[in-house]
Amino acid sequence: MALRDLLDGLAIPILQAPMVGASPPEMALAVSRAGGMGSLAAGAMAPDQIGPEIERLRAATDAPFGVNLLMAPAARPDASTIDAALARLAPWYAELGVPTPAHPNSFAPDFEAQLAAVVQAAPPVASFTFGVLSAAQIEALHRAGTWVVGTATTVAEARAWALAGADGICAQGFEAGGHRGYFLAEPEASLVGTMALTALILDAVDLPVIAAGGIMNGAGVAAALALGASAVQMGTAFLLAGQTGVSAPWRAAIETAADDATLLTRAFTGRYARGIENRFMRELRPVEDEVPAYPVQNRLTQPLRAAAAQAGEPDMISLWAGQGVRLARPGDAGEMVRVWWREAQDAAGRLSARTSA
Ligand SMILES: Cc1cc2nc3c(=O)[nH]c(=O)nc-3n(C[C@H](O)[C@H](O)[C@H](O)COP(=O)(O)O)c2cc1C
Repeated sequence: MALRDLLDGLAIPILQAPMVGASPPEMALAVSRAGGMGSLAAGAMAPDQIGPEIERLRAATDAPFGVNLLMAPAARPDASTIDAALARLAPWYAELGVPTPAHPNSFAPDFEAQLAAVVQAAPPVASFTFGVLSAAQIEALHRAGTWVVGTATTVAEARAWALAGADGICAQGFEAGGHRGYFLAEPEASLVGTMALTALILDAVDLPVIAAGGIMNGAGVAAALALGASAVQMGTAFLLAGQTGVSAPWRAAIETAADDATLLTRAFTGRYARGIENRFMRELRPVEDEVPAYPVQNRLTQPLRAAAAQAGEPDMISLWAGQGVRLARPGDAGEMVRVWWREAQDAAGRLSARTSA
């Protein structure tokens, strides 16, 4: 069996995107149980949390599921960088009435230790974002019985994953919500749309492609499959699901989003990500090139974002969402997947009628 067979064998070829801060394990479970494939967003988890979470999912379902890690570079910023970044953030902390944090001891969980935990727990699928694993790391996952999916925003990144031995590519188009997965070219050179990116990667590498970005309903699912994708990965479309992890002000921003609500920013985390524009994004835009790179800025704004969520203040939260956000609907995550698949079948029927006429 290959990853392609696993994807072809899904009753519903819809993957729930792993979304740190937005997709708790209950969402993954609901999607896998419905016949799609859920993903555990393990990017922000401590290494020793990962194994038990994977075991919990495995105990709850026989269906396949994925686990996602973010390949954050090890960060050792000097004290003056942190001082400057905290000084820039101090007025925002003050506005919320929260003390500006002290210098953190660490900026992100240790990736090597997270990876070791995933290898040990051996989930059916593991996906990776912000970088490319070495051939040896992929071999270790294969020996454990885990298929490897690499996130790519360009053809070059897809080729790098193929060369390292990945089993599939998640093609992340420009439309996608949350962090951009770029790691080879500059972010501005990694802004290909889902339709072009999926077609280009399918042409360039002999691996199954999972299309992600801007897919909000069954017609979008059908479109991606018609392009040749083996499955789709949807994130923003799940943000209003009953199982969502988004805070109340984030949810309200999604519910009231305008047609063209989202923009890319690196102000919150030091890495470009797409979210609903708010005051923090607007006011930091002139200096966003100066904030320290991910994961440092991410760590320094964490207490601000947590306090803002608690206070119901949407202007200081990273309101990650994709370009299709206005089409997000509430519902049970499992039922949503079933409805989208019925819509996709209807769309395929209409397409077939149109193309055979
Ligand atoms: C709130 C949010 C959080 C995300 N977190 C992650 C993550 O932890 N790991 C990851 O690989 N992708 C993450 N993504 C990106 C998704 O994997 C996917 O590329 C994207 O949701 C697809 O586009 P769509 O949002 O238009 O469906 C996130 C997306 C959103 C909206």
